[in-house]
Amino acid sequence: MQDMTEDSSAPGPGNQSTTRKRIVVRRNGPYEPDPGIPIVDHLGVPVTAEAPVRLCRCGQSQSKPFCDDSHITRGFVDAKDPRRVPDKLDVYAGQQAFVFDNRGTCAHSAFCTDRLNAVFHLGEEPFIAPSGARLDDLVNAVRRCPSGALGIGIGPVRDTNLSDINRPPQIEISRDGPYRVTGHVELVDEDGVPIAQNAGASREHVSLCRCGASLNKPFCSGMHWSVAFRDPLPDPLREPTLFEWAGGYPALLDMTRIFYSRYVPEDPLLGPLFAEMSPDHPERVAAWLSEVFGGPRFYTERYGGYRRMVSQHIGKEIRPEQRALWATYMVQSADDAGLPSDPEFRAAFVAYIEWGSRIAVENSGPSATPPPNMPVPRWWWVCNATPGARPSAVADDTQMTSDAGPALPGPGEAVAFEQHICSGRWTATRCCSPSTSGRKTTSSGTIAGSWPASRPAPCLATAHGRPSAWRCSRGGRRR
Ligand code: SF4
Ligand code: FES
Repeated sequence: MQDMTEDSSAPGPGNQSTTRKRIVVRRNGPYEPDPGIPIVDHLGVPVTAEAPVRLCRCGQSQSKPFCDDSHITRGFVDAKDPRRVPDKLDVYAGQQAFVFDNRGTCAHSAFCTDRLNAVFHLGEEPFIAPSGARLDDLVNAVRRCPSGALGIGIGPVRDTNLSDINRPPQIEISRDGPYRVTGHVELVDEDGVPIAQNAGASREHVSLCRCGASLNKPFCSGMHWSVAFRDPLPDPLREPTLFEWAGGYPALLDMTRIFYSRYVPEDPLLGPLFAEMSPDHPERVAAWLSEVFGGPRFYTERYGGYRRMVSQHIGKEIRPEQRALWATYMVQSADDAGLPSDPEFRAAFVAYIEWGSRIAVENSGPSATPPPNMPVPRWWWVCNATPGARPSAVADDTQMTSDAGPALPGPGEAVAFEQHICSGRWTATRCCSPSTSGRKTTSSGTIAGSWPASRPAPCLATAHGRPSAWRCSRGGRRR
């Protein structure tokens, strides 16, 4: 599509050489990451901070994620709790591989049990049945474990190359949860002594406690669930972008990684098309989709924008059947990755996949001359069908507390969210309910004729909204 075969030689963030960064874990105090470790929110959007950065780990700061010295007044103590799950490495032998697991490291994110429940059994023994899935799916599940509790090896030893992705350093502030640190960042105490990790734990990625309640500090033990640690809700009057609704860059990257590892390599139609792709191709496509779906301009900033994307398709001569399969597998990958499945999101998502992939075919034709200086498209909900634009037929009883619709504002009365949009049948619970993927998303209703300032410019997919790469005319459209 507009990102079907993007590859390539332009350096992205994953290609940059990195020296090993450190995070100092202050005794009974905050984390102090080295300058230069990017900090991003749960959507993958950079969080700006002035050096020296001090990240709260007591859970009490009023300016999260940064420390405001509340740990001093609250008497925060960072000792491990003797009731924590013991440090014990379990090894599960399967037909294709060995899987390693340390329950004492697990942060209970449930990525493994949600994604691959034929292998990872919630509340059952054995916890892991390594022969229950394809090897590539096993590897993906292990790599996605944010705590580093899981590992994998073809033999009875944890294989770092299989278990870990080689990523640049980064700290992700997960929503209502821990800091997810990736990129081989070293954890040291105030004296520079490395912090001991449990047996078999990944050195590439760890989850660090942010709520102050972990039993296994400084690592997350999943206690943020028990203490109901919550970040502030976003502005309920602002329509979410497709990027936000999807779960941001991490969710889109999860999808593209599944696509390029599960569906492409052995496919006779798609395999040859992507044979030359660079190792960070999934990151590139996720950056493109992030930008298209209204997120930050990741693709433009990191890889070069529309011009670069188009250059990757020229002369590729993508066939219609390749495009159709690409679109089918991309939608399947969205399902696999647990992207929201609500009608509104999928209508917009599929519309873009179809539109973009057909343009890629057009641009890749033998006589195509794609316009060189188009902007990256910015996609929006289809026909104003935003998540808050209708009551759901499947909201549960507690959400539908009244059959009465929201009251209309009186003449001259200002519109109020709770009173006029999110009341009656549309309770605050419904209006702020998790999406079907389980992501907590806040949406407002849509007021006819009223659009927030954040709404992007009209999308470019109108019939005459873009110049065509084709010289001749079909069906009367200017080409
Ligand atoms: S932290 Fe890892 S092992 Fe624990 S539930 Fe999450 S994915 Fe599974
Ligand atoms: S660690 Fe300093 S305010 Fe939480």
